[in-house]
Amino acid sequence: MTTTKDFALFGAPPAFDKPIPIGQLYFPSAQRYEAAFRGIFERQYYTEYGPLNRQLEQNLQQFLGVKHAICVANETVALMMVANAMELTGKVILPAFNHIAAVQSLSWAGLEPVFCDVDPATHQIDIDQVSKLIDQDVSAILGVNLWGGVCDVKALAKLAKDSGVQLYFDSAHAFGCAVDGVRIGNFGRAEVLSFHQSNILNATEGGCICTNDDELAAKLRVMRSSAGAGSVPATVNKTVNGRMSEAQSAIALMGLEDFSANQRNNEILFELYKAQLAKISGLRLFKPKGVSFSNYQNVVCQISEAEFGLSRDRLIALLKAENVDARPCFHLGVHRDIPHSQHQLPETDSLSTSCIQLPIGALVSAQSVLKICDILARAHQASTTINARSSQDSIGVR
Ligand SMILES: Cc1ncc(COP(=O)(O)O)c(C=O)c1O
Repeated sequence: MTTTKDFALFGAPPAFDKPIPIGQLYFPSAQRYEAAFRGIFERQYYTEYGPLNRQLEQNLQQFLGVKHAICVANETVALMMVANAMELTGKVILPAFNHIAAVQSLSWAGLEPVFCDVDPATHQIDIDQVSKLIDQDVSAILGVNLWGGVCDVKALAKLAKDSGVQLYFDSAHAFGCAVDGVRIGNFGRAEVLSFHQSNILNATEGGCICTNDDELAAKLRVMRSSAGAGSVPATVNKTVNGRMSEAQSAIALMGLEDFSANQRNNEILFELYKAQLAKISGLRLFKPKGVSFSNYQNVVCQISEAEFGLSRDRLIALLKAENVDARPCFHLGVHRDIPHSQHQLPETDSLSTSCIQLPIGALVSAQSVLKICDILARAHQASTTINARSSQDSIGVR
């Protein structure tokens, strides 16, 4: 029988010698990395729309089947640029179960966020609520595609068209995903992706704006560089340093070449989690919905404390002690980060206090997944004694 003594939280040696990262953290081989950087040194050119940056944009356009892929320093700055280039005004509707970046981009653009709740089954924006929130001050809907799944992009497109508002997407988690065979990057007026190290395609830091709108693309290309680089003349009222360097582009080019292998590795690990977690009551794995193809880049699980026996935060404390980098999803809904927010979003509040993110990606092995699932199963079995010991020591108490 498992007892508290079997857990690192109460003195046992940790299950892993070194931390198992949350993911995705893909590193190409040192030889390829060196060869790419030798090229940068030989050309003696670091940044400003260099050859690797141009190559990356072309490769992305081909891979995604989109007319324009505009690479940028990170997604947050890209979201700011898009809000400005789309000439948004007044209010923008977006889900609160999300990273803070989208809200910050609105704040930088002088726009007011209107937070919408999410559908608990998909974790994506609740379309019925969006339609109720549209009024004359709303200029756009900012859809968010979470966890390798997508929101109902077609229903949102219809709603936006019928209501005369613009539509764009924060697709940080959805690189490579497809809806009915059409890759993410082709929906709304623009889609913005993040190439942060936590995503399946990374540029260390970086991001990309995808659009099939020539006029918008021309503006964004001028806006991206404070020096105003863009082959098509376009008038913009602001520029920013949103450039992606050659070093970032080199990493992303290698990641793009290896996308299929990384996606397949994720899918295998995801299926393993699915099979193992189905045996433990109180843990509900998020399964990417709305996609004909997923990158499976995130493992997100909702915990029913009543069934599993432990609270989300106590489980995180237990896993961290075992050197498993488990995390909450977005900590709190972003509406909670806005002072004096009046938004009532029960589903967002529930998900953001009960969901946990588990490791997946290039640095995680199948053996590690099995070991993590074993810890979870044992934690469930021993939950009563773990709770008794943890309460004494105030572990996992918010
Ligand atoms: C859903 C979502 N949107 C936007 C961002 C911001 O991306 P970046 O770090 O590239 O600015 C993140 C970062 O994790 C994210 O998870």
